[in-house]
Amino acid sequence: MATKVDEVAARWEQQQREIAAMLDQLKPPDDWKLLPADPNYKYPLVRYYRYRGTVLSNFPLLWGFLESWKRFQARPKDVIVASFPKSGTTWLQELVWRVVHGETSVNSGGGATLEYRFPLLDEPYADIMKMTPIHDMEDPRLIKTHLPYDLLPPSVHTGNAKVLYVSRDPRDVCVSYYHFFRMINYAEYRGTFQEFRDSFVRGEVMYAPYREHVQGYLRHADTVLCVTYEQLHADRAAVVRRVAAFLERPVTDAEAESIARHTSFEAMKENPGTNYRHWEKTGMVNVGSEGTFMRKGQVGDWKNYFTEEEGAAFLKWAKQPV
Ligand code: A3P
Repeated sequence: MATKVDEVAARWEQQQREIAAMLDQLKPPDDWKLLPADPNYKYPLVRYYRYRGTVLSNFPLLWGFLESWKRFQARPKDVIVASFPKSGTTWLQELVWRVVHGETSVNSGGGATLEYRFPLLDEPYADIMKMTPIHDMEDPRLIKTHLPYDLLPPSVHTGNAKVLYVSRDPRDVCVSYYHFFRMINYAEYRGTFQEFRDSFVRGEVMYAPYREHVQGYLRHADTVLCVTYEQLHADRAAVVRRVAAFLERPVTDAEAESIARHTSFEAMKENPGTNYRHWEKTGMVNVGSEGTFMRKGQVGDWKNYFTEEEGAAFLKWAKQPV
């Protein structure tokens, strides 16, 4: 039986042309300030802008991000997983999905990808991906966002939605983000890691500035459940219990252990619902490009990219209060 992903994949080439034509014609609003073009991104039509302090690309504007964001009405049963990209979003999403749905089978959600089960608020590409728009989803809605706290639609704060935030050693975030942009069709980053790292610190990568993002959520840790990638590594069952308590969906010890087992790196890399291999079909990554979404899944890969001194300086920068 053809899946939604197959339907999207069947239109891949036509879709690439349509997107390129739309990007070419797009006129971002006046309060979107264009950043200087970084020649290391080889895909010419995606440009980066600063909007209310945050770097966003013209990509979400294609699907009416701003209108959709204004229209978004949070509901009390909404669960929102927020993060700076590459901090362990997918990991926490899958864990949350399993807690909310009491899911203990190997392939959660019948193998449907998280992109459909747990859509991204920031890029309302429901139409092109043949998804149910977030506005029309049934409760409980599970929603992902990389928007900083201050850019969340106001009703998230007033509508009693539950918000979880995952953060990670910023050095590992930076390494993972570098590889992500090398892999993604709409970026094709070809600069060196050092060049990418410098643009990360200058606050010129998508969703930057990094420190404001993390600290913006941590400042609200009284209402936002904040977990770390490193905690997920060290004791996942404990994180499952914290999430379950926060979402008021208690789990037994056996369920917590099962969810922890099914959210290991190896399990999620095998699971078609979580490994993002469908991007090879839908054109998000170039087939045969380096790496995959589930890349290494390690704590401390930064040591392969920074010297000890560089790593210490980067961490010091990242922790400075802003
Ligand atoms: P690496 O590139 O370091 O491997 P996000 O979901 O926020 O985009 O983050 C992606 C990062 O989380 C990638 O990091 C990916 O491999 C890692 N990841 C995803 N699921 C994981 C899991 N179950 N265990 C460990 N790491 C995981």
